[in-house]
Amino acid sequence: MTEILEPNAQGLRSAAAILGRGGLVALPTETVYGLAGDATNDSAVAAIYQAKGRPSFNPLIVHVADASVAEGLVTVSPMAQRLADAFWPGPLTLVLPLRPDAGVSPLVTAGLTTLAVRVPEHPVAQGLLQVFGGGLAAPSANPSGRVSAVTADHVMTGLAGRIDAVLDGGPCSVGVESTIVGFDGDRAVILREGGVPAEALAEVLGHDPDRRKEVGAITAPGQLASHYAPGGAVRINATMAQPGEVFVGFGPMECDLNLSETGDLAEAAANLFRHFHQLDAEGAARIAVAPVPETGLGRAINDRLRRAAAPRDS
Ligand code: TXA
Ligand code: MG
Repeated sequence: MTEILEPNAQGLRSAAAILGRGGLVALPTETVYGLAGDATNDSAVAAIYQAKGRPSFNPLIVHVADASVAEGLVTVSPMAQRLADAFWPGPLTLVLPLRPDAGVSPLVTAGLTTLAVRVPEHPVAQGLLQVFGGGLAAPSANPSGRVSAVTADHVMTGLAGRIDAVLDGGPCSVGVESTIVGFDGDRAVILREGGVPAEALAEVLGHDPDRRKEVGAITAPGQLASHYAPGGAVRINATMAQPGEVFVGFGPMECDLNLSETGDLAEAAANLFRHFHQLDAEGAARIAVAPVPETGLGRAINDRLRRAAAPRDS
């Protein structure tokens, strides 16, 4: 049974107690819901992979309450520090060298020598991290390959019965995952576009970050195949619907669902997964999506759309 917890002091205590005994709790962050387990507990981390049906080679992000906790887990370079100062708490994940004494389960990093860390801003995530005290390994709270959850209802649709509890913090405000940044010598590398636009990173870095799927020999394995996919087939950059397609628009246009009638990218990001979940619930078999500009948050939206439209194994 999966318990739904209110985001109050009692709910946070219950959630922390479940995590303390190695259980799994889905929690709201400002990006998407995360499926959290104690990052130091091998069996809790193994249970995360199992609940998601996730290939065990795909490493997890560890969530911490603030940058000082992060410093106990990873070595923070001056460049990483500048990004942390600018964007933590918030939708930014930094991939940094793992400290040998971090105490993080090797299942979290899937054997890599780096760790992805993030300080979320959402008050419920912050509250839980403070009550729990340690790092929480948390991938997005959806079955592997499917659309990320941006409400507690979405979590329940995908994972009910497979996890212990969901902290219901309402809908996520950003709606796409965090931007993941790694480092290659003196270059910052965007491993996944997300809630912090590349333009904002560039302003702090003083240079345009590289855009790559890997740093050195280390790749972000989740970045390649079909991902974020609703049940129906997805066609992108569509100017109109073909017969039998549901049309998802962007900007003022005739459509069945609109990411943002006014063409606002932040609103579109917040609506993207919500619309996909709604189309899943309605059993939409074919989905066409209008073009979205490739700037700011539009990059993250287009990245998710391209993966949703990518050929699928099954
Ligand atoms: O907004 C988010 O980032 C959400 C919320 C819950 O924090 N989390 C999330 O986690 O999207 P997940 O597991 O769905 O995606 C994490 C990505 C994966 O693609 C993984 O390959 C990459 O981070 N990753 C994790 N550790 C890594 C590492 N050491 N090096 C490179 N990539 C890493
Ligand atoms: Mg995910």
